[in-house]
Amino acid sequence: MVFGRGCFSQLSGILDEQRTDKNGCMVFLLDDVFSEHELRTAVPAQEKDLLIPVNVDDEPKTAYVDKLTADVKKYAADSKTVPAGVIGIGGGSTMDLAKAVALMLNNPGSAADYQGWDLIENPAVYHVGIPTLSGTGAEVSRTTVLTGPEKKLGINSDHTVFDQLILDPELIANAPGDQRFYTGMDCYIHCVESLTGTFLNEFSRSYGEKAIDLCREVFLNPGPDSNDKLMMASYFGGMSIAYSQVGICHALSYGLGFVLGLHHGIGNCVAFDYLEEFYPEGVLEFRKMMETHRIELPRNLVTDLSGDDVEAMINVALVLEPLWENALGPDWKNTMPRSRIRDLYLQM
Ligand SMILES: NC(=O)c1ccc[n+]([C@@H]2O[C@H](COP(=O)([O-])OP(=O)(O)OC[C@H]3O[C@@H](n4cnc5c(N)ncnc54)[C@H](O)[C@@H]3O)[C@@H](O)[C@H]2O)c1
Ligand SMILES: [Fe+2]
Repeated sequence: MVFGRGCFSQLSGILDEQRTDKNGCMVFLLDDVFSEHELRTAVPAQEKDLLIPVNVDDEPKTAYVDKLTADVKKYAADSKTVPAGVIGIGGGSTMDLAKAVALMLNNPGSAADYQGWDLIENPAVYHVGIPTLSGTGAEVSRTTVLTGPEKKLGINSDHTVFDQLILDPELIANAPGDQRFYTGMDCYIHCVESLTGTFLNEFSRSYGEKAIDLCREVFLNPGPDSNDKLMMASYFGGMSIAYSQVGICHALSYGLGFVLGLHHGIGNCVAFDYLEEFYPEGVLEFRKMMETHRIELPRNLVTDLSGDDVEAMINVALVLEPLWENALGPDWKNTMPRSRIRDLYLQM
């Protein structure tokens, strides 16, 4: 891992070490928001390399991962090259696409076949994560969150983890304020859910406490080092949940994402505002942060949905058993029947 303002310039040298096969090619997945941006020209793509602008208007779907993987394989066959690395440059969605394509280049079938825990058999192609938004912890996690035909669920595997990270706070400096807030709150909520969860251990607590302090500085008392702090908060928040779990807010947010297409960060914010009973201190502080940043959340998103859509949301949320268990303990099914989840959704 490299960290520091301007460290993106080290990417070229880092990739050179991986360019051992003369037929090797690097595959850059660059969030297409940067297609006309100076970052596009700073990408150290060489003649044999492939740069694909990826679109994340919708969060990553397994079908999109399959298409990108097929595109890379076709390029490699046509140009007689071998993919030697996949580099994801963007927010959590782009980093997840890079992880998933790196995995699928070495594993047969569709990405949808591997949604779950430890289903991947073969190690991924070497892959690099370069965040341009901070908060998801996707840069450090062992999952790539994908929406498949039936479920929104990650490919959780030791092979998913990036081989290399480039954490350059300058890359997040110009993100739009509301997006920066929503993604940053993902980190804050990771910490609240981890620190109040039943799975908490010293590993998770150590990282979670530092990350939540950094979030407080960034969102309640901002200063010239806020981008550096937010980038480290995201990393530490990701480390915290690596050894514990997220909780109710994330479970509900997955349902919102699956049915409404709501992005993860904003979906978390929408759900968290109704969870005062479970996370009283966290929700109050979150509201203070929203006020400070003049954030207005969308309301009445679920109220007018059909009954089937609400049931689909509940189904998606209920698949995430470890999240509920972390939040409510082993007896969570009795504490949280479907009807109670429905009541929570219907307020949103
Ligand atoms: N793998 C994990 O552990 C993990 C954890 C949490 C969330 N996620 C996933 O991460 C995704 C959410 O990621 P996110 O919140 O970082 O946002 P994102 O990647 O979905 O991007 C949100 C928007 O911001 C734009 N954007 C990105 N960087 C920008 C920049 N510097 N300037 C201007 N615009 C920029 C994107 O083009 C997009 O329109 C979801 O798909 C979620 O499922 C993954
Ligand atoms: Fe999250």
